[in-house]
Amino acid sequence: MRSVKSSLGLNIAHMRLVFLLIVIFLQALGLGTVRAQELAPPRLDEEFRKQEKIYRSQGADVPSGYVIGRGLSEYAELLPSGFCDALAKLGSSDRWLDIGAGSGQAILDYYASEAAPSQKCSGSAQKARAVALSIEDRRTDKWREQAARVGDDRIRYLSGKRLRQYSVEELGKFQLISDVYGGFSYTEDLSQFVAKVLSFLEVGGAFYTLVPGVHLEHAKDKLGILYLTELEDAVGRPERVCSWLKKTACTQVTCESKSDWKRPTELINIRKVCSDVSVPRLKLWEFEAGYPPGRRFQLEP
Ligand SMILES: C[S@@+](CC[C@H](N)C(=O)[O-])C[C@H]1O[C@@H](n2cnc3c(N)ncnc32)[C@H](O)[C@@H]1O
Repeated sequence: MRSVKSSLGLNIAHMRLVFLLIVIFLQALGLGTVRAQELAPPRLDEEFRKQEKIYRSQGADVPSGYVIGRGLSEYAELLPSGFCDALAKLGSSDRWLDIGAGSGQAILDYYASEAAPSQKCSGSAQKARAVALSIEDRRTDKWREQAARVGDDRIRYLSGKRLRQYSVEELGKFQLISDVYGGFSYTEDLSQFVAKVLSFLEVGGAFYTLVPGVHLEHAKDKLGILYLTELEDAVGRPERVCSWLKKTACTQVTCESKSDWKRPTELINIRKVCSDVSVPRLKLWEFEAGYPPGRRFQLEP
């Protein structure tokens, strides 16, 4: 994970070492059943507070690296190659959910392309109904104008909650779900997040996302990489995010590894092929606030 210094001048590697020594010390005192995660919550809580501050930031306080206004052409460049075709195939009664939509610019571009259909990744002339989801409300005047023009039964913006706090009864189901540096990159409960996404997806529908700073499925790790999302199996061996996802029942997962991007990035497409979905559970071990945050998860046995 990133080498960020704490206020004591210790970086994560040092802190992990100190932490390990504490566990060994406690075990030597006969407290052999003390598990590392029982010591972790105070530090995790502090990092969660810092992360909330990033979500709540407004105006000049929004960190420049926390990008909230990517348009549809950027989605086309960042998401797996089939995304634009999948968007183009949607009919007017189909539904598209954009999780972690920021200002909702991608949906605005999609609807604006009614007027300029030649735009890259504009979809078909018949527009699907679209829902933008964000923890914090980043709507702009442009969004409000567009929503008034096309009607809020066609485009909706939901905020104030995380994805996991919605039910299928509230949100309904979708043929297409996207996530560009949204919940998949930011959540502290990755397995629950993926299970939730799949619960909102119709059988036959697809989820398109990406995750930066990971060990890649189809490329060798390079030296000196600062990883953001790290996974381990139940006995502590490194696990790739795609290998983990491929263990999910009722899905077909494809990954495109981008080793030459600024950070090694996996572009992920998950197709739901039957309804009995089951995602192998991950437990959060480390979280370091950021945009996106640094996270370490371990597969539950
Ligand atoms: C960096 S912005 C990305 C915005 C947009 N996708 C873009 O590329 O411009 C992160 C977005 O993800 C949202 N987000 C993070 N975790 C989320 C979660 N668990 N559920 C819903 N939204 C989430 C944030 O509220 C924010 O809207």
